[in-house]
Amino acid sequence: MKELIDLSNLPRHIAVIMDGNGRWAKKQGAARVFGHRNAIKSVREVTEGCAELGVKYLTLYTFSTENWSRPKLEIDALMHLLVHTIRGEVPTLMENNVRLTAIGNIETLPKECRSELAEAVRLTENNDGLNLNLALSYSGKWDILEATKKLARDVQNGTLTPDQINEEAFANALATEGIDEVDLMIRTGGDHRISNFMLWQLAYAELYIMNDVLWPDFRKPHLWEAILTYQNRERRFGKISEQLVK
Ligand code: IPE
Ligand code: IPE
Ligand code: MG
Repeated sequence: MKELIDLSNLPRHIAVIMDGNGRWAKKQGAARVFGHRNAIKSVREVTEGCAELGVKYLTLYTFSTENWSRPKLEIDALMHLLVHTIRGEVPTLMENNVRLTAIGNIETLPKECRSELAEAVRLTENNDGLNLNLALSYSGKWDILEATKKLARDVQNGTLTPDQINEEAFANALATEGIDEVDLMIRTGGDHRISNFMLWQLAYAELYIMNDVLWPDFRKPHLWEAILTYQNRERRFGKISEQLVK
C-alpha cells in the first residue's frame, strides 16, 4: 500500500487527535492508564511513518487544556508517562533525524516534564527531517487568545497598527509560527469533532476520522491509508473543479 503513495503530493503537515486510549484499555478490563501506556507504540509508528515518507510536520494532540479536568490520578499517570517517554525516545528521534518541538501552555506542566521536554528539544534542534510537534496543555482557543494578546501588546507599544493585522501577521503570532497550516487531520476513536484542537490551522485541513480504530491500535498502514485517501480528495479551496490545475 505504501508504494501507491504519490511522494510528490504528500500532506506537508499532518495533525493527529490520538483518541481512544481509555476505551481500548476498558475493552480488555484494564485501567485507562494501560491504554495510555500502549499509545506510545502508536506514537512511534506514526512518527517513523511520517519521517520515512518525508512529511515535513506532524503535530500530535497529546494533552488538551480540557484534559486538566480529568481525575488527578489519570493526569499524574499521563505526566509521569510523558517524562519517561520523552527521555526514552530521544535516541529514536536522533536515528530518524526528527526535530522535536512543543506548543501549548508549557508552564502549566510539572517541572520534571518541562525540563525533559526542553532537553529533548535542545538535543534534536539540529535535525532537519520531520518536525514532530507535541501539543501539550494546548487548545485552539488558548492559542488564538495568546496570539491576540501578543498582537494587542504590539499595537500598544506602537510596533504594529490594527490595519497591519492580516492573516500572515496573525499566523505568525500563533504557537505554530513558521509551521504550515494542517493539510490532513486524522482522528482515531470515531468521534466527529475537533475538541478544541488547532482551530485556525485546521481551516482547510482534510479530515480523516477513523471510526473503528482506537489510538493504541494505530500502525503505519493506517497512516498510509489516510494519506492515500487524502491524495484522492479534491482540494478546491473555494474554487470550482474546472479551475484546478490537474
Ligand atoms: C486520548 O485517549 C488520550 C488523551 C486524551 C490524553 P482518551 O484518554 O481520551 O481515551 P478515551 O477517548 O476515553 O477512550
Ligand atoms: C482530545 O481527546 C484530546 C487529546 C487527544 C489529547 P479527548 O478525549 O480529550 O476529547 P473529547 O473530550 O472526547 O472531546
Ligand atoms: Mg477521548
